[in-house]
Amino acid sequence: MIDFQHVLDTIHQTAQKTDDRGKIADYIPELAKVDKYKFGIHLVNMNQENFSAGDSNERFSIQSISKVFTLTMALGLIGEKLWTRVDVEPSGDPFNHLSLLEFEKGIPRNPFINPGAIVVADVLISHLKNPKDEFLAFVRNIADDETIDYNSTVAASEKQTGFHNYAAANLLKSFKNLENDVETVLDFYFHQCSLTMSCAQLANTFYLYINNGRCRRKNTHLTSGQVKRINALMLTCGFYDEAGEFAFEVGLPGKSGVGGGIVALHPNKFCVATWSPGLNEKGNSKLGMLALEKLTTETELSIF
Ligand code: DON
Repeated sequence: MIDFQHVLDTIHQTAQKTDDRGKIADYIPELAKVDKYKFGIHLVNMNQENFSAGDSNERFSIQSISKVFTLTMALGLIGEKLWTRVDVEPSGDPFNHLSLLEFEKGIPRNPFINPGAIVVADVLISHLKNPKDEFLAFVRNIADDETIDYNSTVAASEKQTGFHNYAAANLLKSFKNLENDVETVLDFYFHQCSLTMSCAQLANTFYLYINNGRCRRKNTHLTSGQVKRINALMLTCGFYDEAGEFAFEVGLPGKSGVGGGIVALHPNKFCVATWSPGLNEKGNSKLGMLALEKLTTETELSIF
């Protein structure tokens, strides 16, 4: 039996001694206010036993991690038709890159780069009566936690500086890959990114991706085929132009956000969430990546 608590405590101790923590994302001004020295880690196994260390119960902005939840909801609503509007290939580009989108005539490479996530948001808006309320209810349901909420200050802060996302949405619109108007879609997108959750909440919400599509409330949200595809996308595209490095160092499917969170999982075994707000040059949490490399190396639990 692996002593997960001991492994997490060791990782936490190493993190506390680390000064070089990368750089906090400041292009969303509200994110720049977060304490760079925070560090949390939380792991939940198949039997729903929980292990944690550090600031694992403190909530932070999940940002792009929310793209996994919108993808899950969109697949539930329109199934495989989604793939006519978004591709499933790694882009090898940063999350906000636009030149490939123009070159490939408005079909984003995958649902985790910003243009892909904006198309997924558009799908949800077209199929839901009250998109923001219904999406929040969906996340609370898969999390089995009614306290999860948007942070409207963070959403407003991103809107103020979101010129790149406006460019992406306008480009998608010009290629006829956006059904709703740009303002409505981006308002939804900025809100999904502003969701505030802790490592403990994230690890438990991702339980459905290790449990064949069944969440903690024992409701089935995805077929096993859809879980396979979402996990494959996390492995190949979850870290943008650092997806190869994450697979190489950590060896698990996962998803990052510029709030400094990372969630990674081993199907049928565990999910783990880390939070350290400082990012590396590719925009992924610097200590989070080091922590997860240590976790899979010490436990010998990677998918490879
Ligand atoms: O669209 C953006 O720029 C942010 N709301 C999300 C970016 C993000 O988290 C990228 N992931 N590492």
